This record gives sequence, C-alpha cells and structure tokens, in this order.
Amino acid sequence: MSTPTIYHCYCTGVTQKRVLRAMAEQGVRELDDVRRASGACTACQSCRCELEALLAAVAEGSITLGPVKPSSS
Ligand code: FES
Repeated sequence: MSTPTIYHCYCTGVTQKRVLRAMAEQGVRELDDVRRASGACTACQSCRCELEALLAAVAEGSITLGPVKPSSS
C-alpha cells in the first residue's frame, strides 16, 4: 500500500500529528472516537476519506504511533 497523503482537516485545523497524538494518548481507533478525541472531521466531512485512510494505515502498521511525548500545553 502506498503512504497516504498527510491528513489535514481544513474546517477544524486539525493536523495528522494531532490525530496521531490522540490515537497514541487515548488509544482510539474508530472514526467517531477519533473525531471526539481530536475534533477532526466534525464539520463538512470532506476529509473523511483521508481520515479513514489514516486510520487504516495505522491499523495495518504502515504508520506507527511511536512513544507519546508530554504535551507542551
Ligand atoms: S475538512 Fe474536515 S470537516 Fe471539513
């Protein structure tokens, strides 16, 4: 499988990094849980396919979550 494009939700400003952090910190793997945890894909939903591709990439291991670093905020 090819590497998915870098996810970015333009409506909410949520980046791939933020989604991956939410997945790593909170262990969420389902679309609705990722939405609640990160705020991504909660408006027009035109980014839904990209977010689903990102979730699939994590599930199949082509993207790893890595260690969770302390948040700066
Ligand atoms: S681009 Fe993600 S909800 Fe609109």
